[in-house]
Amino acid sequence: MGLPGIAEAAESIEPESAYAVLAKAQKLERAGRDVIHLEIGEPDFATEHRINQAGIAAINAGQTRYNPTAGIGPLREAIAAELGRRSERKISASEVVVGPGAKPLLFLPTLAIIEAGDEVIYPDPGFPTYEAMVRVAGGKGVPVPLVEANGFSFDLDVLRQRISERTKLIVLNSPSNPTGGVIPLSDLEEVAKLAQRHNCWVLSDEIYSRMCFDGVKAPSVASIDGMAERTIVVDGFSKTYAMTGWRLGYGVMPERLASKVNLLAVHAFGCTAQFTQFAGLEAITGPQTQIDTLMAEYQRRRDVLVDGLNSITGISCRKPAGAFYAFPNVQSLGESSEAIADRLLSETGVALLPGNAFGAAGEGYLRICFAKPIPELLQAVERMRAFFG
Ligand SMILES: Cc1ncc(COP(=O)(O)O)c(C=O)c1O
Repeated sequence: MGLPGIAEAAESIEPESAYAVLAKAQKLERAGRDVIHLEIGEPDFATEHRINQAGIAAINAGQTRYNPTAGIGPLREAIAAELGRRSERKISASEVVVGPGAKPLLFLPTLAIIEAGDEVIYPDPGFPTYEAMVRVAGGKGVPVPLVEANGFSFDLDVLRQRISERTKLIVLNSPSNPTGGVIPLSDLEEVAKLAQRHNCWVLSDEIYSRMCFDGVKAPSVASIDGMAERTIVVDGFSKTYAMTGWRLGYGVMPERLASKVNLLAVHAFGCTAQFTQFAGLEAITGPQTQIDTLMAEYQRRRDVLVDGLNSITGISCRKPAGAFYAFPNVQSLGESSEAIADRLLSETGVALLPGNAFGAAGEGYLRICFAKPIPELLQAVERMRAFFG
Protein backbone atom coordinates (compact mmCIF):
# COMPACT_ATOMS: atom_id res chain seq x y z
CA MET A 1 0.00 0.00 0.00
CA GLY A 2 1.35 3.45 -0.93
CA LEU A 3 1.07 6.67 1.00
CA PRO A 4 -2.26 8.54 1.19
CA GLY A 5 -2.96 10.70 -1.85
CA ILE A 6 -3.28 14.44 -2.30
CA ALA A 7 -6.31 16.00 -3.99
CA GLU A 8 -6.02 16.59 -7.73
CA ALA A 9 -6.72 20.33 -7.29
CA ALA A 10 -3.83 20.70 -4.84
CA GLU A 11 -1.53 18.49 -6.92
CA SER A 12 -2.05 20.68 -9.96
CA ILE A 13 -1.76 24.07 -8.31
CA GLU A 14 1.10 26.27 -9.53
CA PRO A 15 3.24 28.41 -7.21
CA GLU A 16 3.27 32.21 -7.51
CA SER A 17 6.41 32.71 -9.55
CA ALA A 18 7.36 35.92 -7.71
CA TYR A 19 8.12 33.80 -4.64
CA ALA A 20 10.00 31.19 -6.70
CA VAL A 21 12.19 33.83 -8.40
CA LEU A 22 12.75 35.59 -5.07
CA ALA A 23 14.05 32.31 -3.59
CA LYS A 24 16.41 31.83 -6.56
CA ALA A 25 17.63 35.43 -6.33
CA GLN A 26 18.26 35.11 -2.60
CA LYS A 27 20.27 31.97 -3.21
CA LEU A 28 22.49 33.93 -5.61
CA GLU A 29 22.84 36.70 -3.03
CA ARG A 30 23.94 34.22 -0.38
CA ALA A 31 26.63 33.14 -2.85
CA GLY A 32 27.86 36.76 -2.95
CA ARG A 33 26.03 38.10 -6.06
CA ASP A 34 24.59 41.59 -6.22
CA VAL A 35 20.91 41.28 -7.19
CA ILE A 36 18.43 44.02 -8.10
CA HIS A 37 15.01 42.83 -6.96
CA LEU A 38 12.29 43.81 -9.40
CA GLU A 39 10.32 40.57 -9.02
CA ILE A 40 8.14 41.03 -5.94
CA GLY A 41 5.16 43.39 -6.12
CA GLU A 42 5.66 45.21 -2.87
CA PRO A 43 6.04 48.91 -1.99
CA ASP A 44 9.58 49.68 -0.80
CA PHE A 45 8.26 52.40 1.54
CA ALA A 46 7.69 51.79 5.24
CA THR A 47 4.17 51.80 6.67
CA GLU A 48 3.35 55.36 7.80
CA HIS A 49 4.26 56.20 11.39
CA ARG A 50 0.68 57.18 12.34
CA ILE A 51 -0.55 53.75 11.16
CA ASN A 52 2.18 51.88 13.06
CA GLN A 53 1.35 53.89 16.18
CA ALA A 54 -2.35 53.01 15.92
CA GLY A 55 -1.44 49.32 15.70
CA ILE A 56 0.95 49.56 18.67
CA ALA A 57 -1.61 51.50 20.75
CA ALA A 58 -4.22 48.83 19.98
CA ILE A 59 -1.88 46.05 21.14
CA ASN A 60 -1.11 47.98 24.34
CA ALA A 61 -4.83 48.51 24.91
CA GLY A 62 -5.38 44.74 24.79
CA GLN A 63 -6.91 44.58 21.29
CA THR A 64 -5.38 41.15 20.81
CA ARG A 65 -8.42 38.89 21.08
CA TYR A 66 -10.95 37.04 18.97
CA ASN A 67 -13.32 39.51 17.37
CA PRO A 68 -16.20 39.48 14.83
CA THR A 69 -15.34 37.37 11.77
CA ALA A 70 -16.43 40.00 9.23
CA GLY A 71 -14.29 42.63 10.96
CA ILE A 72 -14.67 45.17 13.77
CA GLY A 73 -17.67 47.48 13.35
CA PRO A 74 -15.79 50.79 13.07
CA LEU A 75 -13.53 49.45 10.30
CA ARG A 76 -16.44 48.01 8.28
CA GLU A 77 -18.30 51.33 8.65
CA ALA A 78 -15.22 53.30 7.58
CA ILE A 79 -14.60 51.04 4.56
CA ALA A 80 -18.26 51.33 3.50
CA ALA A 81 -18.10 55.14 3.78
CA GLU A 82 -14.72 55.52 2.07
CA LEU A 83 -15.31 53.11 -0.82
CA GLY A 84 -18.85 54.46 -1.23
CA ARG A 85 -17.47 57.97 -1.57
CA ARG A 86 -14.76 56.95 -4.03
CA SER A 87 -17.03 54.87 -6.24
CA GLU A 88 -20.04 57.19 -5.87
CA ARG A 89 -22.50 54.61 -4.62
CA LYS A 90 -24.18 53.76 -1.34
CA ILE A 91 -22.47 50.91 0.53
CA SER A 92 -23.64 49.51 3.86
CA ALA A 93 -21.26 48.08 6.47
CA SER A 94 -23.16 44.77 6.25
CA GLU A 95 -21.82 44.38 2.69
CA VAL A 96 -18.20 44.55 3.90
CA VAL A 97 -16.17 41.47 4.87
CA VAL A 98 -12.67 42.10 6.27
CA GLY A 99 -9.96 39.44 6.06
CA PRO A 100 -6.22 38.86 6.53
CA GLY A 101 -5.18 40.33 3.16
CA ALA A 102 -7.09 40.71 -0.07
CA LYS A 103 -6.36 37.12 -1.08
CA PRO A 104 -8.95 35.48 1.24
CA LEU A 105 -11.54 37.82 -0.31
CA LEU A 106 -10.64 36.44 -3.72
CA PHE A 107 -10.74 32.83 -2.55
CA LEU A 108 -13.78 32.70 -0.27
CA PRO A 109 -16.35 34.39 -2.54
CA THR A 110 -15.17 32.05 -5.33
CA LEU A 111 -15.73 29.04 -3.05
CA ALA A 112 -19.15 30.42 -2.13
CA ILE A 113 -20.21 30.88 -5.77
CA ILE A 114 -18.60 28.15 -7.87
CA GLU A 115 -19.86 24.61 -8.18
CA ALA A 116 -18.12 21.75 -9.97
CA GLY A 117 -17.82 22.49 -13.67
CA ASP A 118 -18.95 26.15 -13.52
CA GLU A 119 -16.89 28.30 -15.84
CA VAL A 120 -14.95 31.34 -14.66
CA ILE A 121 -13.55 33.95 -17.02
CA TYR A 122 -10.36 35.68 -15.90
CA PRO A 123 -7.70 37.88 -17.50
CA ASP A 124 -4.69 36.35 -19.27
CA PRO A 125 -2.10 37.49 -18.29
CA GLY A 126 -3.52 37.80 -14.79
CA PHE A 127 -2.73 37.45 -11.09
CA PRO A 128 -2.00 33.70 -10.57
CA THR A 129 -4.37 33.40 -7.61
CA TYR A 130 -7.37 33.62 -9.98
CA GLU A 131 -6.45 30.37 -11.71
CA ALA A 132 -5.66 28.70 -8.37
CA MET A 133 -8.89 29.69 -6.64
CA VAL A 134 -11.03 28.50 -9.56
CA ARG A 135 -9.18 25.19 -9.59
CA VAL A 136 -9.63 24.68 -5.84
CA ALA A 137 -13.33 25.54 -6.11
CA GLY A 138 -13.74 22.83 -8.77
CA GLY A 139 -14.56 25.33 -11.53
CA LYS A 140 -13.26 25.48 -15.07
CA GLY A 141 -10.96 28.38 -15.84
CA VAL A 142 -11.60 30.25 -19.09
CA PRO A 143 -8.76 32.74 -19.60
CA VAL A 144 -9.49 35.68 -21.92
CA PRO A 145 -6.50 37.51 -23.41
CA LEU A 146 -5.65 41.10 -22.62
CA VAL A 147 -4.50 42.99 -25.68
CA GLU A 148 -1.48 45.28 -25.61
CA ALA A 149 -2.88 47.49 -28.38
CA ASN A 150 -6.00 48.10 -26.20
CA GLY A 151 -3.90 49.25 -23.25
CA PHE A 152 -4.11 45.66 -21.96
CA SER A 153 -7.90 45.66 -21.68
CA PHE A 154 -9.82 42.47 -22.61
CA ASP A 155 -10.14 41.35 -26.19
CA LEU A 156 -13.93 41.92 -26.13
CA ASP A 157 -14.54 39.75 -29.20
CA VAL A 158 -12.91 36.78 -27.50
CA LEU A 159 -14.86 37.57 -24.32
CA ARG A 160 -18.13 37.51 -26.30
CA GLN A 161 -17.14 34.14 -27.82
CA ARG A 162 -16.11 32.54 -24.53
CA ILE A 163 -18.95 33.65 -22.29
CA SER A 164 -21.89 31.24 -22.19
CA GLU A 165 -24.67 29.96 -19.98
CA ARG A 166 -21.99 27.92 -18.18
CA THR A 167 -20.14 31.10 -17.09
CA LYS A 168 -20.83 31.80 -13.42
CA LEU A 169 -18.18 34.41 -12.67
CA ILE A 170 -16.06 36.99 -14.49
CA VAL A 171 -12.88 38.19 -12.76
CA LEU A 172 -11.64 41.70 -13.52
CA ASN A 173 -8.46 43.39 -12.29
CA SER A 174 -7.99 47.08 -12.98
CA PRO A 175 -5.38 48.51 -12.70
CA SER A 176 -3.86 45.16 -13.52
CA ASN A 177 -1.11 43.02 -12.15
CA PRO A 178 0.97 42.26 -14.26
CA THR A 179 0.27 44.76 -17.08
CA GLY A 180 -0.50 48.03 -15.26
CA GLY A 181 -3.45 48.42 -17.68
CA VAL A 182 -6.67 50.19 -16.67
CA ILE A 183 -9.98 48.96 -18.13
CA PRO A 184 -11.83 51.96 -19.62
CA LEU A 185 -15.47 52.59 -18.68
CA SER A 186 -16.72 51.70 -22.17
CA ASP A 187 -15.18 48.20 -21.86
CA LEU A 188 -16.56 47.79 -18.34
CA GLU A 189 -20.02 48.68 -19.67
CA GLU A 190 -19.69 45.93 -22.27
CA VAL A 191 -18.57 43.43 -19.60
CA ALA A 192 -21.51 44.55 -17.42
CA LYS A 193 -23.96 43.98 -20.28
CA LEU A 194 -22.57 40.48 -20.89
CA ALA A 195 -22.61 39.66 -17.15
CA GLN A 196 -26.26 40.71 -16.94
CA ARG A 197 -27.25 38.89 -20.12
CA HIS A 198 -25.59 35.65 -18.95
CA ASN A 199 -26.55 36.17 -15.32
CA CYS A 200 -23.08 35.85 -13.84
CA TRP A 201 -21.22 37.34 -10.93
CA VAL A 202 -18.30 39.73 -11.37
CA LEU A 203 -15.33 39.73 -9.02
CA SER A 204 -13.52 43.03 -9.44
CA ASP A 205 -10.03 43.04 -7.92
CA GLU A 206 -9.43 46.75 -7.32
CA ILE A 207 -6.41 46.49 -5.02
CA TYR A 208 -4.53 49.03 -7.20
CA SER A 209 -7.52 51.35 -7.67
CA ARG A 210 -5.87 54.28 -5.90
CA MET A 211 -2.60 53.76 -7.73
CA CYS A 212 -3.21 55.43 -11.09
CA PHE A 213 -0.94 57.81 -13.03
CA ASP A 214 -1.37 60.95 -15.12
CA GLY A 215 -4.61 61.88 -13.34
CA VAL A 216 -6.35 58.73 -14.67
CA LYS A 217 -9.11 57.28 -12.49
CA ALA A 218 -9.85 53.56 -12.73
CA PRO A 219 -13.64 53.21 -12.96
CA SER A 220 -15.36 50.42 -10.98
CA VAL A 221 -17.75 47.99 -12.64
CA ALA A 222 -19.81 48.03 -9.41
CA SER A 223 -20.77 51.67 -10.11
CA ILE A 224 -22.53 50.74 -13.36
CA ASP A 225 -26.33 50.55 -13.06
CA GLY A 226 -27.54 47.15 -11.88
CA MET A 227 -24.04 45.76 -11.22
CA ALA A 228 -23.61 46.21 -7.43
CA GLU A 229 -26.08 43.34 -6.85
CA ARG A 230 -23.83 40.89 -8.74
CA THR A 231 -20.35 42.30 -8.01
CA ILE A 232 -17.72 41.59 -5.38
CA VAL A 233 -15.22 44.43 -5.11
CA VAL A 234 -11.91 43.34 -3.57
CA ASP A 235 -9.52 45.91 -2.17
CA GLY A 236 -7.09 46.18 0.71
CA PHE A 237 -4.32 47.99 2.50
CA SER A 238 -1.24 46.10 1.25
CA LYS A 239 -0.31 48.27 -1.73
CA THR A 240 -1.95 51.68 -1.17
CA TYR A 241 -0.72 52.00 2.43
CA ALA A 242 2.45 49.89 2.15
CA MET A 243 1.01 47.37 4.64
CA THR A 244 1.78 44.05 2.90
CA GLY A 245 2.87 42.23 6.05
CA TRP A 246 0.04 43.47 8.23
CA ARG A 247 -2.35 41.24 6.27
CA LEU A 248 -5.49 43.32 5.86
CA GLY A 249 -7.94 43.38 2.98
CA TYR A 250 -11.66 43.42 2.36
CA GLY A 251 -14.44 42.50 -0.01
CA VAL A 252 -17.65 44.44 -0.64
CA MET A 253 -20.49 42.30 -1.92
CA PRO A 254 -24.28 41.91 -1.72
CA GLU A 255 -25.39 40.94 1.79
CA ARG A 256 -26.77 37.57 0.66
CA LEU A 257 -23.26 36.59 -0.46
CA ALA A 258 -21.45 38.40 2.40
CA SER A 259 -23.32 36.26 4.94
CA LYS A 260 -22.07 33.06 3.24
CA VAL A 261 -18.53 34.34 2.82
CA ASN A 262 -18.65 35.22 6.52
CA LEU A 263 -19.48 31.59 7.33
CA LEU A 264 -16.60 30.32 5.19
CA ALA A 265 -14.32 32.82 6.95
CA VAL A 266 -15.49 31.56 10.38
CA HIS A 267 -14.17 28.14 9.50
CA ALA A 268 -11.16 29.20 7.40
CA PHE A 269 -9.51 31.85 9.58
CA GLY A 270 -11.98 32.78 12.32
CA CYS A 271 -11.17 36.47 12.39
CA THR A 272 -8.54 39.07 11.46
CA ALA A 273 -6.12 40.42 14.11
CA GLN A 274 -7.84 43.27 15.98
CA PHE A 275 -4.76 45.50 16.21
CA THR A 276 -4.19 45.18 12.47
CA GLN A 277 -7.75 46.37 11.94
CA PHE A 278 -7.20 49.39 14.20
CA ALA A 279 -4.11 50.21 12.16
CA GLY A 280 -6.25 49.90 9.00
CA LEU A 281 -8.89 52.17 10.54
CA GLU A 282 -6.23 54.83 11.09
CA ALA A 283 -4.96 54.27 7.54
CA ILE A 284 -8.26 55.14 5.89
CA THR A 285 -9.64 57.72 8.33
CA GLY A 286 -6.40 59.67 8.92
CA PRO A 287 -4.66 62.12 6.55
CA GLN A 288 -4.34 60.74 3.01
CA THR A 289 -1.55 63.06 1.87
CA GLN A 290 1.12 60.33 1.78
CA ILE A 291 -0.69 58.49 -1.03
CA ASP A 292 -0.26 61.48 -3.35
CA THR A 293 3.41 61.82 -2.38
CA LEU A 294 4.06 58.13 -3.04
CA MET A 295 2.14 58.16 -6.31
CA ALA A 296 4.18 61.13 -7.56
CA GLU A 297 7.33 59.16 -6.75
CA TYR A 298 6.01 55.97 -8.40
CA GLN A 299 5.19 58.03 -11.49
CA ARG A 300 8.78 59.37 -11.67
CA ARG A 301 10.06 55.82 -11.32
CA ARG A 302 7.70 54.55 -14.00
CA ASP A 303 8.87 57.22 -16.42
CA VAL A 304 12.57 56.54 -15.75
CA LEU A 305 12.12 52.79 -16.17
CA VAL A 306 9.87 52.88 -19.24
CA ASP A 307 12.02 55.48 -21.03
CA GLY A 308 15.11 53.39 -20.22
CA LEU A 309 13.52 50.18 -21.51
CA ASN A 310 12.36 51.86 -24.71
CA SER A 311 15.92 53.02 -25.35
CA ILE A 312 17.06 49.38 -25.57
CA THR A 313 16.89 47.91 -29.09
CA GLY A 314 14.36 45.08 -29.27
CA ILE A 315 12.28 46.12 -26.25
CA SER A 316 9.10 48.14 -26.44
CA CYS A 317 7.18 49.13 -23.35
CA ARG A 318 3.85 50.97 -22.98
CA LYS A 319 3.52 53.38 -20.09
CA PRO A 320 1.36 51.58 -17.53
CA ALA A 321 -1.68 53.63 -16.44
CA GLY A 322 -1.70 52.20 -12.93
CA ALA A 323 -0.21 49.83 -10.30
CA PHE A 324 3.60 49.62 -10.15
CA TYR A 325 4.42 47.19 -12.93
CA ALA A 326 5.92 47.67 -16.37
CA PHE A 327 5.17 44.90 -18.88
CA PRO A 328 7.67 45.32 -21.72
CA ASN A 329 7.23 43.44 -24.98
CA VAL A 330 10.38 41.40 -25.78
CA GLN A 331 8.94 39.31 -28.62
CA SER A 332 11.43 40.65 -31.15
CA LEU A 333 14.30 39.11 -29.17
CA GLY A 334 13.16 35.67 -30.34
CA GLU A 335 13.67 33.90 -27.02
CA SER A 336 11.04 32.71 -24.54
CA SER A 337 10.26 35.09 -21.66
CA GLU A 338 11.30 32.41 -19.24
CA ALA A 339 14.72 31.98 -20.86
CA ILE A 340 15.23 35.76 -20.90
CA ALA A 341 14.17 36.15 -17.24
CA ASP A 342 16.39 33.22 -16.19
CA ARG A 343 19.43 34.53 -18.04
CA LEU A 344 18.90 38.08 -16.83
CA LEU A 345 18.98 36.82 -13.26
CA SER A 346 21.91 34.45 -13.60
CA GLU A 347 24.03 36.63 -15.93
CA THR A 348 23.23 40.18 -14.78
CA GLY A 349 21.63 39.82 -11.33
CA VAL A 350 18.38 41.53 -12.41
CA ALA A 351 15.44 39.60 -10.90
CA LEU A 352 12.14 40.01 -12.76
CA LEU A 353 9.32 37.73 -13.87
CA PRO A 354 8.57 36.10 -17.21
CA GLY A 355 5.20 37.24 -18.58
CA ASN A 356 4.00 33.67 -19.07
CA ALA A 357 4.04 33.18 -15.28
CA PHE A 358 0.73 35.07 -15.51
CA GLY A 359 -0.80 32.97 -18.29
CA ALA A 360 -0.10 31.86 -21.84
CA ALA A 361 -0.89 35.30 -23.30
CA GLY A 362 1.92 36.77 -21.19
CA GLU A 363 4.52 34.96 -23.33
CA GLY A 364 6.78 37.49 -25.01
CA TYR A 365 6.64 39.94 -22.09
CA LEU A 366 8.48 40.53 -18.82
CA ARG A 367 7.00 41.89 -15.61
CA ILE A 368 9.11 44.47 -13.82
CA CYS A 369 8.02 45.95 -10.49
CA PHE A 370 9.19 49.58 -10.26
CA ALA A 371 8.55 50.03 -6.54
CA LYS A 372 12.30 50.61 -6.18
CA PRO A 373 14.49 53.72 -5.91
CA ILE A 374 15.41 55.38 -9.22
CA PRO A 375 19.18 54.60 -9.00
CA GLU A 376 18.37 50.88 -8.78
CA LEU A 377 16.01 51.10 -11.74
CA LEU A 378 18.65 52.94 -13.78
CA GLN A 379 21.24 50.33 -12.90
CA ALA A 380 18.85 47.53 -13.89
CA VAL A 381 18.26 49.24 -17.27
CA GLU A 382 22.00 49.53 -17.87
CA ARG A 383 22.54 45.86 -17.03
CA MET A 384 19.72 44.94 -19.41
CA ARG A 385 21.13 47.19 -22.13
CA ALA A 386 24.51 45.47 -21.86
CA PHE A 387 22.84 42.05 -21.85
CA PHE A 388 20.63 42.67 -24.89
CA GLY A 389 23.36 44.56 -26.72
C1 LIG B 1 -3.93 41.88 -8.29
C2 LIG B 1 -3.68 41.50 -6.87
N1 LIG B 1 -4.71 41.11 -6.11
C3 LIG B 1 -4.53 40.73 -4.83
C4 LIG B 1 -3.28 40.74 -4.26
C5 LIG B 1 -3.12 40.25 -2.84
O1 LIG B 1 -3.08 41.24 -1.91
P1 LIG B 1 -2.84 40.92 -0.36
O2 LIG B 1 -1.38 40.89 -0.14
O3 LIG B 1 -3.52 42.06 0.37
O4 LIG B 1 -3.48 39.62 -0.04
C6 LIG B 1 -2.17 41.15 -5.00
C7 LIG B 1 -0.81 41.10 -4.42
O5 LIG B 1 0.18 41.04 -5.09
C8 LIG B 1 -2.38 41.53 -6.35
O6 LIG B 1 -1.36 41.92 -7.12
